Amino acid sequence: MSKTPNVTRRRFLEIGSGITLVAGAGLLWRANERGVFAEPTGEAYAPWSMWNAPEYANTPLALVAAGILASNPHNTQPWIFRVTDSRVNILADTRRHLGTFDPYLREMHLGLGCAVENMVLAAAPNGFAADVEFAPGSLLDIAGRDGQVLAATLHLAHATAATDPLHAAIPQRHTDRNPYDTARPLAADAFAGIAHEDDIRLWLFGEGEARERLGTAIVEATNEIVADKEMIEDSHHWFRDGPHEIAREKSGLALDTAGLPPALLAAAKFLPALPAERSHGAWADQTRDNHVPTAPLLGLIATRNRYDRPQALAAGRFWQRLHLSGAAQGISMHPLNQPVETIDRERQLGREAKSEARLAAITGDESWQPTFAFRAGYPTRAVRTSARRGVAEVVV
Ligand SMILES: Cc1cc2nc3c(=O)[nH]c(=O)nc-3n(C[C@H](O)[C@H](O)[C@H](O)COP(=O)(O)O)c2cc1C
Repeated sequence: MSKTPNVTRRRFLEIGSGITLVAGAGLLWRANERGVFAEPTGEAYAPWSMWNAPEYANTPLALVAAGILASNPHNTQPWIFRVTDSRVNILADTRRHLGTFDPYLREMHLGLGCAVENMVLAAAPNGFAADVEFAPGSLLDIAGRDGQVLAATLHLAHATAATDPLHAAIPQRHTDRNPYDTARPLAADAFAGIAHEDDIRLWLFGEGEARERLGTAIVEATNEIVADKEMIEDSHHWFRDGPHEIAREKSGLALDTAGLPPALLAAAKFLPALPAERSHGAWADQTRDNHVPTAPLLGLIATRNRYDRPQALAAGRFWQRLHLSGAAQGISMHPLNQPVETIDRERQLGREAKSEARLAAITGDESWQPTFAFRAGYPTRAVRTSARRGVAEVVV
């Protein structure tokens, strides 16, 4: 009689520990599937070590291998390269657009300009001189979002020239979305002397009223974007959910580079992906609480006309040089382009140009049109690399 409850209890414990084991194994399986404990690896990350591989050396493909590691909006990699022995055409792949987040393909062209800069830097060490020709015209005239549009041509000639020191920084440059070291100030002269075209201007704000206003503009613009359902859905389209999606697409934004503390990163990777509203809400919190307040330096790049294609490409080239120069000096950098994205969006919707006025009040000079905003500082955490499609996937 007295045995029955014990047997039942033992049985219960057996079943219980069985369930615990199965659940534990399930959790481990899921953690493994979601890459919770792993550094991102695999083919999607191979381009970071292939960029100066011997098989490309002294061929135009070496320029492409450097180009694809460039900064680019939402890691859309909006490029296709048409290669011959004497030139490389860089085409905008307009299908890889950001919708209402970049309605005039302005950011797409900045990203293409970034790729051009890496390619020019890779020319000399591969025995070429590269002459850059930008496609003329206005971004406002590019109608479709379903094809390839010539953006720039690199005319190549065999030549011997010194390698620019920024070339070595190409694989070291990564967007750092972590908080920056608030105990280490960063002087604006860290970026002194970086060459740019006459129709490009750089502002750097360390402290004072203009810095406060730009910080506020970035936070306000982020909140405006988060309140715009179409914008966050278009942005969310490029968020990648876990290692399988990253391995398949080799592009887009992944949690690994979101700038989260390690424990939160592990939890976020483990759990199901957040819907657009919540992930963008978290981004707005991070912008307000980390990105802006921990940055010793905020910056703006402006052109005379932000919708002029050559100027957008030239601004991209300049941002890439700035970012490479930061990487070479151990300085972290991070585009915070929200206050310009809202300028485009207000224009697209025919709304009052409040965002334009917000930035003009900071620069005090309406003859310059800001096209890119960013922060710079010293790192607090190691930064992970983002995925890339390899050379073979982007060359025609
Ligand atoms: C025109 C442009 C706009 C960008 N805007 C942002 C931005 O607002 N916020 C952000 O976190 N990263 C932004 N980025 C950085 C890209 O997301 C990043 O370059 C891309 O994901 C590839 O990662 P990597 O720079 O580490 O190689 C921007 C980059 C470019 C070229």
